[in-house]
Amino acid sequence: MTISGGWRRAAAGAGLLGADGSVRPTIFAEMSALAVRTGAINLGQGFPDEDGPAEVLEAAVAAIRDGENQYPPGTGIPQLRQAVAEHQRRFYGLEVDPDREVLITAGATEAIAATLLALLEPGDEVVTFEPYYDEYGAIISLAGGVHRTVPLEPPGFLPDLDRLRETVTDRTRVILVNTPHNPTGSVLDRATLTAIVELAERHDAVIVTDSVYEHLTFGPEHIPIETLAGARERTVSISSGGKTFNTTGWKVGWLTAPAELVTAVLAVKQFLTYVNGAPFQPAIAAGLRLPDAYFTGIAQALAHKRDVLSDGLRAAGFDVFPSDGTYFVVADAAPLGFPDAVELCRRLPGLAGVVAVPLGAFSRGDYAARTASLVRFAFCKRIDVLEEAAQRLAALPR
Ligand SMILES: Cc1ncc(COP(=O)(O)O)c(C=O)c1O
Repeated sequence: MTISGGWRRAAAGAGLLGADGSVRPTIFAEMSALAVRTGAINLGQGFPDEDGPAEVLEAAVAAIRDGENQYPPGTGIPQLRQAVAEHQRRFYGLEVDPDREVLITAGATEAIAATLLALLEPGDEVVTFEPYYDEYGAIISLAGGVHRTVPLEPPGFLPDLDRLRETVTDRTRVILVNTPHNPTGSVLDRATLTAIVELAERHDAVIVTDSVYEHLTFGPEHIPIETLAGARERTVSISSGGKTFNTTGWKVGWLTAPAELVTAVLAVKQFLTYVNGAPFQPAIAAGLRLPDAYFTGIAQALAHKRDVLSDGLRAAGFDVFPSDGTYFVVADAAPLGFPDAVELCRRLPGLAGVVAVPLGAFSRGDYAARTASLVRFAFCKRIDVLEEAAQRLAALPR
């Protein structure tokens, strides 16, 4: 039997379709399996190795015990939609209607998928930065869209605005912005965000912003693009509880947008998962209502972790680029005599007992070739784990 259909487009969009038509596992799955097999420290996939706040965990346990175990409402429980609206007001001064302008999703992953599937007609163009979170390529392809990218060059990993202006045209349906940025750790500045809004207005494009690391910045503050003049009415803003509350396995995300856009996305979302995570929704609502000190505290703790790992990488001989946010730091392996990060990452467990991911997993073609020696390391791990990783990396041959 020949199986045709969207799987090919999704796999090709994510760069996973081999010449023989097979789907290769993602580099994240390959590297995590390697970490398990070799007992290496896994600085590849971005998940924390410590639990989040007790109040949040206890709220989920209580919700299960209280019988909140059946389908929640299709748009999410009112308590969580209200908490998202309060969060937008508290941190960004945005007024959001919790009944019409908030949608709870199965992680940011579903919010991104449902939004792109809702908005794209075949042939529509989507502009993202490159490197990019791998889901973007897969879903754009699945929706029959065309993926255009604007490179983020080291060391600052901010876009060239002329290049951005050339890439956004009347064919652009969506400008998909990710800040703070995975995998580079860059945080978009006001000038770049303003240029994006101007371009979206000029070409009548929708802005979709993925800000799952919104609370994890170390210096430059996260500016939600929808706070800029002219942006609000054309922006779908996506976030998630996973990174902020160390609950990546719960998959509770959300989006805020004008009511017509929420309705369009809901039309697709209701046939993807319909709903998810009934007892986790009140728990994430409790998290969003934690005092400001919690949010500043996690950023401070993570900044220290970034420093420990960055210093360790530097001492081991890598060139390390600055990371202003997220869980990640990018380092260049070329000074160590490794021009090919894919090869280095496959050998790293054997050489140093550490797993990392090549930047090429987030890019394609020219960009991947130009940045072939760059590696992404995750620092969302306990300090003792990062110190041990640094010690092991120091043993790398040079
Ligand atoms: C940029 C970005 N967007 C979205 C996601 C997915 O978020 P969630 O786990 O809430 O689906 C991730 C997770 O790594 C991410 O890095």
